[in-house]
Amino acid sequence: MAYETLLYEKRDSIGYVTINRPDKLNALNRQVMDELDDCFRAIQNDEEVRVVILTGAGEKAFVAGADLQELATLAPLEGRDFSRRGQRIFDLIENLGKPVIAAVNGYALGGGCELAMACTLRIASENARFGQPEVKLGLIPGCAGTQRLARLVGKGRALEMILSGEPIDAQEAYRIGLVNQVVPAAELAAAAQTLACKIAANAPLAIKFALEAVNRGWEMTREQGQFLEAVLFGLCCTTTDMKDGTRAFLEKRPAKFVGK
Ligand code: COA
Repeated sequence: MAYETLLYEKRDSIGYVTINRPDKLNALNRQVMDELDDCFRAIQNDEEVRVVILTGAGEKAFVAGADLQELATLAPLEGRDFSRRGQRIFDLIENLGKPVIAAVNGYALGGGCELAMACTLRIASENARFGQPEVKLGLIPGCAGTQRLARLVGKGRALEMILSGEPIDAQEAYRIGLVNQVVPAAELAAAAQTLACKIAANAPLAIKFALEAVNRGWEMTREQGQFLEAVLFGLCCTTTDMKDGTRAFLEKRPAKFVGK
């Protein structure tokens, strides 16, 4: 599929997805959502891609939310479908089977904050702003923001952001655990790439199972989560990469991971 609102390229095991509507601060309209859905499905099935970096075009915004032109006219059933569809696409990103790093280069508001939270890790530029301003529009977050934000930063802080609608800056987002790193804007792409390369050098199936253990375990009881962890640990022991990874350590040589 040729994309009109996304840029996609693949280099050295890393997939680079850029939402490309800078004149509208990369707002998520129907077409962007369709293209994100298609692009991430393709990435999921592309064994050459081990890590993804997601960002927004331009210097001002990662994503300034759902497209308000489209939101303004939604009928009730359309609103429900809009929300369910957004939730599904963001779930695809969260459970892609490979890590997605959000490189947040400015505003991440509404659906933009929700999209960043669906990613595995978040690196913010110093000028990034995070917020869930939906209540200022008579809405609530509709792409799982009420769920992911509370789980990521705790119920009290999530409710403060969701009920006030006020944005927080990058340092505050770092302080409350919403982002993993804050870097100067000029260093954002390099910082995301450095982290992506570190992850891409590790055993792909171990990365996939670690993601599954954390993501699925998050929704389980402690006992169920630990059981799942043990099963996935056992599955790792069936892989060629586990055999080579452990042997390589003992033989004092670098491992050669093949994703099997
Ligand atoms: N949907 C559609 N268009 C959007 C948008 C959105 N969520 N956010 C920004 N845009 C558009 C603006 O309409 C404007 O388009 P125009 O030049 O054709 O008028 C363009 O992007 C630039 O935005 P502008 O508001 O002029 O930039 P700013 O620097 O003054 O303000 C923001 C930046 C992010 C503070 C402001 O755009 C904003 O509050 N956006 C909406 C955020 C929001 O509520 N998101 C949640 C939606 S549920």
